[in-house]
Amino acid sequence: MVCLGNICRSPLAEGILSSKLPKERFFIDSAGTGNWHEGESPDLRSIAIAQKKGIDISKQKAKHFTTKTFEDFDHIFVMDRSNLKNVLALAPNEKAKEKVQMILDTQFPNKQKEVPDPYYGTEKDFEEVYDMLDEVCNLLVKKMI
Ligand code: 4NP
Repeated sequence: MVCLGNICRSPLAEGILSSKLPKERFFIDSAGTGNWHEGESPDLRSIAIAQKKGIDISKQKAKHFTTKTFEDFDHIFVMDRSNLKNVLALAPNEKAKEKVQMILDTQFPNKQKEVPDPYYGTEKDFEEVYDMLDEVCNLLVKKMI
């Protein structure tokens, strides 16, 4: 799960998908295309909305998405078009590029719909992001299990 800072959206996506899939079979992680928040905990507003829904993301630490990240994952889901561009620019080859998709493409194919960045928003924006991610993760689970 990839966003810009790895403190708002992708930690939520990681926490939500992890809560829906068996840990023995799936390794789910998140990273940011920017490195400013590396090592930091998720944004308190992401922690709060997740906690309200029964998911603990407080122990996650922000990581930087690099070319090496491609080696470790079969699927790479990005939140918006800017993430898509940044991640594709780091892809070492065509096979790596094929791993990458906008997460909402699963629900809205070919619409290039984005999960909006809530960083400068309100609690309500975080709740909306949570609900979008929860819905699309239900579809991802159906495809993966
Ligand atoms: P995220 O949100 O990409 O969903 O983690 C952001 C967090 C921090 C910044 C931008 C977006 N920032 O500019 O520091």
